[in-house]
Amino acid sequence: MKCCETIEELRSTLQVWRCSHPDGSIGFVPTMGFLHEGHASLIRRSAEENQLTVVSIFVNPLQFGPNEDFERYPRDPERDTRLAEEAGADILFMPSVKEMYPKPVVTKVMISGLTDKLCGASRPGHFDGVGTVVSKLFNLVQPDAAYFGQKDAQQVAVIERMVEDLNIPVTIVACPIVREADGLAMSSRNVYLTPEERAQAVVLSHSLQRAEAWFDEPDLTVGEIRRRIAEHISSSSPLAEIDYTDILSYPDLENPSQDVPIGDLPGSSRYIAALAVKFGATRLIDNRIYTVK
Ligand code: PAJ
Repeated sequence: MKCCETIEELRSTLQVWRCSHPDGSIGFVPTMGFLHEGHASLIRRSAEENQLTVVSIFVNPLQFGPNEDFERYPRDPERDTRLAEEAGADILFMPSVKEMYPKPVVTKVMISGLTDKLCGASRPGHFDGVGTVVSKLFNLVQPDAAYFGQKDAQQVAVIERMVEDLNIPVTIVACPIVREADGLAMSSRNVYLTPEERAQAVVLSHSLQRAEAWFDEPDLTVGEIRRRIAEHISSSSPLAEIDYTDILSYPDLENPSQDVPIGDLPGSSRYIAALAVKFGATRLIDNRIYTVK
């Protein structure tokens, strides 16, 4: 695996590879590092489906709010290098902030509509930061396919729309959420949790799992399911502070009417229940997609 820290090195490495593999496809996995099995699953999938896999590790300051965890976001470049290579990365791009943003940023990608709910509503500007860095990375790597985790379902929807709107020639591949044995979705931020918070954090996935049965009850309304999810979290975890619980159509993220019974929703339509819950200063997200019978 070749490690590149500069844009020039990345571009020249890719150019040499493209010359010797004119028909080879390039898969790309953008990350912010502190890699875990969730990231590894994306890298493995890219390595299976492409001749070359590029992984980037860059904690992007543009997508963090002023009071968020940019400074203390966990970092471990040595361990990440080993894990990326083991999972099948061929090129690891680890630029500095100066390398990615040598000048004050005056050109940004702004994504509206899809970003005014869920994490976009509670983290203003977050998805503009994501869209800006991901389009820069797409321009640098020029991949055939890019791999994103369904854990950040809104991010997948936003990137798919950005690629469509800006005619970026890349296929977006959404990959399933990888979970710990007890159901907690893997996240680089899980390391912030105290043992007590970690034990209670299972309420996110448990409440979403319970909702599977509620979506089978034709008389329950969308609003009632949403209320039950929130109620399950609050009653089983005293440390949990709910940021949002929402149920939206998927993948277009439209708000269904809260008083429509499940039995009146169109058969085979898909809905996402998405949660953001704080444990102390740590904000965790999870989601699950349900298909109406
Ligand atoms: P990061 O949080 O490091 O995540 C990188 C990729 O790994 C994302 O596509 C994310 O959805 C995926 N991922 C994280 N946890 C996962 C899990 N448990 N199962 C499956 N996939 C998982 O998302 C970002 O970084 C940034 O916003 C980025 C796209 C790199 C732009 O800065």
